This record gives sequence, structure tokens and C-alpha cells, in this order.
Amino acid sequence: MTPRKNPLQRIVLFGATSAIASAVARELATPDTQLFCVARDGTALQALLDDLRVRADDTDGTRIQGTTADLADIDAHAAVWQQAQQALGEVDAVLLAWGTLPDQAACDASVEATLDAIHVNGTSAIALLARIAPDFERQGRGVIAAIGSVAGDRGRQSNYAYGTAKGMLATYLQGLRNRLFFHGVDVVTLKPGFVRTPMTAGFNRAGALWAEPEAVASGIVKAMQRGREVAYLPWIWRIIMTVIRLLPEYLFKRLKL
Ligand SMILES: NC(=O)c1ccc[n+]([C@@H]2O[C@H](COP(=O)([O-])OP(=O)(O)OC[C@H]3O[C@@H](n4cnc5c(N)ncnc54)[C@H](OP(=O)(O)O)[C@@H]3O)[C@@H](O)[C@H]2O)c1
Repeated sequence: MTPRKNPLQRIVLFGATSAIASAVARELATPDTQLFCVARDGTALQALLDDLRVRADDTDGTRIQGTTADLADIDAHAAVWQQAQQALGEVDAVLLAWGTLPDQAACDASVEATLDAIHVNGTSAIALLARIAPDFERQGRGVIAAIGSVAGDRGRQSNYAYGTAKGMLATYLQGLRNRLFFHGVDVVTLKPGFVRTPMTAGFNRAGALWAEPEAVASGIVKAMQRGREVAYLPWIWRIIMTVIRLLPEYLFKRLKL
């Protein structure tokens, strides 16, 4: 078993009210942890903070804090990151978890919709990573984790705008991992498969391949503690995606996936 090398005591969650990130937050909230939660929806954020404060026995709200931000607004990132650093002091770990699942047909009909999808799921996350990386580099320790997707492993007609953004994010994280390895910082790429969250509410979610957010959150916490490079969640997706990636393109283009 890989040892737990990274303490997760002072953590910043971006997109904290997402079903997956809030399950991570609930798992991490103990009397020993400090969490800083960033989310767009103020009401959902307050409900999450209230719940986490009870779990973490934080009666005066000093260890569990947060702020609202539209994380697609790159100009807002610097102030939010500064606020998180001021709240926590040294940061052990960050988790980037915001995202949207765009309608591919709407993207096919609109250049703007395509670029918006790529921005919210890809470039805005990369902008935040580029902003925070120098601080981790200076600090010489810590974990940077971001939620990509199995959809980023291969472009498919049904969701290639989303897949492009997640694929770009994965490649950026790969380069960042290589850069920060030499500074003692772990960079973790998280690739969930199908998860029952509000994002997938419109799908038929029956079947063994659908996971609950709590199970994926447990995998995320373990991957961050252990400093894993790439974690497929659940693990079976590593095998599925290996097969999907190996299919020759002349066959793959004929599939209705
Ligand atoms: N569910 C799946 O099957 C699945 C599979 C692979 C990867 N993922 C990834 O997992 C992550 C978490 O998603 P989820 O499944 O937990 O879905 P979710 O519950 O729908 O969460 C998505 C979150 O992203 C937030 N968000 C969207 N745009 C934002 C913006 N501009 N600024 C700030 N926050 C924004 C949403 O905030 P609002 O509430 O304000 O809209 C919401 O809290 C995402 O990165 C997603 O791509 C999900």
C-alpha cells in the first residue's frame, strides 16, 4: 500500500459546492482541519459552510471559511487566492472542482458556446493553476489536484467540447507535475467516470458504471494524500479508457459514442 505522504489539513476547494467537492469537504472536515471553500452560489456555499462547521466542531467559524466567486472570471482569481492564503496561512492542498457539462449540439451550432464550454472547463482552470503554481513552488511542498474527466482521454461526437477542455487541463497538469516535482509539490489529475451528481441529472443513470459522489470523493482524498499522478475514479475506468484509447481512429470515427 502506498503510504500517506501529504497531510490534508489546510485545504482550498474551488467549486466547493459541486456534489463531488462537497463530499470531499465533508470527508475532510474534522477538528484538525482548516478549509477555505470557493463557490459561485452564495446560498449553497452558506449551507455547505454551516454543515462543515458542525462536522469540524468549528463553533466560531474560524477554521471553516469561504467566499463566493465566478471562477470563469479570471480577473477574480488573484483576490480569491489571496483571501484563501490569508485565511489558512500555508496551504497544504488545493482542489479545482468547478465545471459544466455543455450541450454538444448547442456547441455545434455556436462558436461562442464552444468557446464558453472550453473556457469554463479548461482555460479558466489553467489560469488558476498558473496563478497558484509559483506559490507552491516557493513553499516547496503541497498538493495541487484538479478534476478532469475520462472524457478528456479521447474526443467523441457526443461531448468533444467538454472533452477538449478536460484533455487540455490534463496535459497542462502533466507539465505542471513535471515542473513542480523538482520542488516537492504533487500534482494530481483526477479522472472520474460517470457520477450521479446534478451535472448528470438528465441522464439515465442506471448501471454498474455509475458511481456516487461520496465514493469518488474518497478516491480523491486518497489520491491527494498519496500524491498519485493520475487517478481514474473508480479505478475500472483506467482499463476502460485504455481500451478506448487503443481503438484505431479509422474504427473509432465510425462509432456512435
Ligand atoms: N458528474 C460526472 O459524471 C463527472 C464526471 C467526470 C468529471 N466530472 C467533473 O467533476 C467536477 C464536479 O462536478 P459534479 O459532477 O460534482 O457536478 P455539479 O454538482 O453539477 O457541480 C458543478 C459545480 O461547478 C460550479 N460552477 C460551474 N461554473 C462555475 C463558475 N463559472 N464559477 C464557479 N463555479 C462554477 C457549479 O456552481 P453553481 O452551483 O453555481 O452552478 C457547481 O457547484 C466538474 O469539474 C466535472 O466536470 C463530473
